[in-house]
Amino acid sequence: MKKKIAVLPGDGIGREIAKGAVAVLKAVGERFGHEFEIEFADIGGAAIDQHHTPLPDETTEACKRSDAVLLGAVGGPKWDHLPSHIRPERGLLAIRKELQLFANLRPIITFESLVESSPLKREIIEDVDVMIVRELTGGLYFGKPSERRGEHNEVVIDTLHYTREEIERIVEKSFELAMVRNKKLTSVDKANVLESSRMWREIVQEKAKNYPEVQVEHMYVDAAAMKLIHQPKDFDVMVTENLFGDILSDEASMITGSLGLLPSASLRADGFGLFEPVHGSAPDIAGQDKANPMAMILSAAMMLKYSFNMHKEAEAIEQAINEVLNAGYRTPDIQNTGTHVVGTTKMIDLVVHRVREDSAIS
Ligand code: NAD
Ligand code: IPM
Ligand code: MN
Repeated sequence: MKKKIAVLPGDGIGREIAKGAVAVLKAVGERFGHEFEIEFADIGGAAIDQHHTPLPDETTEACKRSDAVLLGAVGGPKWDHLPSHIRPERGLLAIRKELQLFANLRPIITFESLVESSPLKREIIEDVDVMIVRELTGGLYFGKPSERRGEHNEVVIDTLHYTREEIERIVEKSFELAMVRNKKLTSVDKANVLESSRMWREIVQEKAKNYPEVQVEHMYVDAAAMKLIHQPKDFDVMVTENLFGDILSDEASMITGSLGLLPSASLRADGFGLFEPVHGSAPDIAGQDKANPMAMILSAAMMLKYSFNMHKEAEAIEQAINEVLNAGYRTPDIQNTGTHVVGTTKMIDLVVHRVREDSAIS
């Protein structure tokens, strides 16, 4: 099969880990007989430096002419002083909106070999398999007005805005996912305070009638944050508002042991997708060959599965990652005793070798 992929490395460790995803895809192509044509494009701070905007038109066009998009991460201290409309993060929000990527799937799955690396106890995190479905193109991130006001700019406004249709489509997507998983849906909201959450709850109740097999529960976001750490095994699919999903997914990364392990898929209604790690550009370790490339590589695996229907290819990547972890290799974010600590480049090489099936781990 021939597929065109736009790769947007972005900033900081985004640039280091994007190389890993490309190398792994090359190995998958060789092993399974696919041709992946890669087109690189700038986003975030790199785009501000080159084109004076965090999302140049050329980048949007490159994404639109591709079959799928891979994104590293954006942002960094170099651009933190800029006004919000030209910050690197604005480029990421704009591409999500422009491509209508409303459904952000963030799987949280325990790796058996890393159970001892989590700050949580084995019995709590063993066999966890949760899918956080984060609404990605509405809610607090995009509501208008969002501005400072007043004679001395002393008033700030951010708006949590949703249309019925925006909530309906993310809720439906979550029910569909629950149907092919363990048939449980937790809708996370703040309906004791927010009007938007009350409509969200109503819509979940309405849609539930079409999915009688799915067990539905509603949970306030504060309680959900607690329960995610206390009893993560009780969750199957969690669906929630944009900002709630952002926060809960970083929290959930501690179940797996590191933020550097969490991939994500951002999908449009027709299945087109952008695939990106949950983490950011990690300025504290950027350029030091310390970043864990696994979240990015697993995002490429999600791309193969969700956008190209290449299931055995995606499994080959997941298996390679498991083998490398089982052999004791770790980037510094997930050290524990008896392991071999390696850098980003070495970790990428190890995974590539396993995907190629051409040598034992060395
Ligand atoms: P971050 O996710 O970049 O880092 C948080 C912590 O996790 C840091 O200590 C970092 O070293 C560590 N970490 C993250 N990914 C890692 C990996 N792959 N391997 C090893 N360690 C890893 O969040 P932050 O520090 O709050 O934000 C830094 C910048 O990234 C900001 O500009 C922020 O806006 C941006 N950001 C971008 C995205 C994105 O592009 N999707 C996501 C989150 C944050
Ligand atoms: C994420 C990030 C982004 C978000 C930022 C960088 C805009 O934190 O992808 O989780 O909040 O969506
Ligand atoms: Mn985030």
